Amino acid sequence: MYRYARCLIIWTVVVLLVQINVGATATVPFDDVVPLSDQAWELLCSRLFQIEKEVGDRFPHVTENLVWRTSRSGEWTGGFYPGMLWLVEEEARRRGDTAKAELLRQKALQWSERLSARQFDTGTHDLGFLFVPTWVEAYKRTGDERWRNGALNAARSLSKRFAPGGFIQSWGPIGQGPNAGTVIIDNMMNLELLYWAAQELNDDRFAEMATSHARLTQRHHVREDGGSFHLVDFVRDTGVMIRGRTHQGLSAYSTWSRGQAWGVVGFAITYQYTGDRSFLETAQKMGEFFMRRLPEDGVAPWDFDAPAPAAKDTSANAIAAFGFLCIASHLQQEEPQEAAKWVDRARYLLQAVHSYSLFAHPELRDKGGLLTGGTYNFRQGSAVEQSVAWGDYYYLRSLLALAQWQREQN
Ligand code: GLY
Repeated sequence: MYRYARCLIIWTVVVLLVQINVGATATVPFDDVVPLSDQAWELLCSRLFQIEKEVGDRFPHVTENLVWRTSRSGEWTGGFYPGMLWLVEEEARRRGDTAKAELLRQKALQWSERLSARQFDTGTHDLGFLFVPTWVEAYKRTGDERWRNGALNAARSLSKRFAPGGFIQSWGPIGQGPNAGTVIIDNMMNLELLYWAAQELNDDRFAEMATSHARLTQRHHVREDGGSFHLVDFVRDTGVMIRGRTHQGLSAYSTWSRGQAWGVVGFAITYQYTGDRSFLETAQKMGEFFMRRLPEDGVAPWDFDAPAPAAKDTSANAIAAFGFLCIASHLQQEEPQEAAKWVDRARYLLQAVHSYSLFAHPELRDKGGLLTGGTYNFRQGSAVEQSVAWGDYYYLRSLLALAQWQREQN
């Protein structure tokens, strides 16, 4: 009897250990990720909570060997982790998990608050990245004027970087130094804050600045074939183009894949606020280029002109996928077939990076972010094929948007 009981206990322990191990390494197929099956959802939430434990009250930036490097100020990436908390809070509510939603809401508010000092930062153009997913979102969800006022201050700070030549200066002290007339394509992502502020204040000046900036970027960064310059230097006072160049890309005339993806999203959003069809066409043209230049595995190299085999940048896929879904939502009413084409492309981009995600990559169960294979700056050897805060954010945003699209079709 005693021997029988002992065998039973040992057997039970063995079965439990096997189950735990399978649970830890089992992968979630892509087709379960997009509708966000319960398994995918639990995995996602658990990783997000673990990231918080790892980084404490500092903002996750990029990983090194899948360990987060963090910042106290938030650099340009501090909006992404709190932005994910807001996205997941909304999903928790949709799933009827009120307790989790409440917890996430408290965390999202707390994390958004940590960016407070940045609303007065006139030393950067990155205020859209920082404040749209956080303070604008917090205002939309709570109606609390404090968030609105903070985000409006951030828009005012950004507007101070508007140069007489009709663009927002990306880098460096306002009007001074070698970058006084420099615009990077990434800057398109910060325009939404100005458009939002224009609507809130009923003040067209913010929108006019944003549209002027978008128009110059459309004319000068985007090339005939749909590829793009990372940087363009302008005469500060006139907006006349001096030259195209690069910082994170291979060369001046190559196309840095993440910059291309920022352009797709930035122009799609500019269309949303202006109704100017040419901006949507530019987003599409840049998206076509992105698709045309992908290698066979569908995962963007860090630069589309880098010699193969080139390091990957999965964050470019995640951002472009989001841009494609924005394009699709704009086309849905009038051109449903064209819209479906962009959704299929978004799906393709997300499916291609699936093997880099925590759903398929057992190593990401207890370290790193939601996605690995992101590259910050290949030429400087900074975070090459790692987790990057913006890659996680746009990956999650794209997955949720695709899942929503799918639900609407059914
Ligand atoms: N906006 C900076 C980057 O994409 O690396």
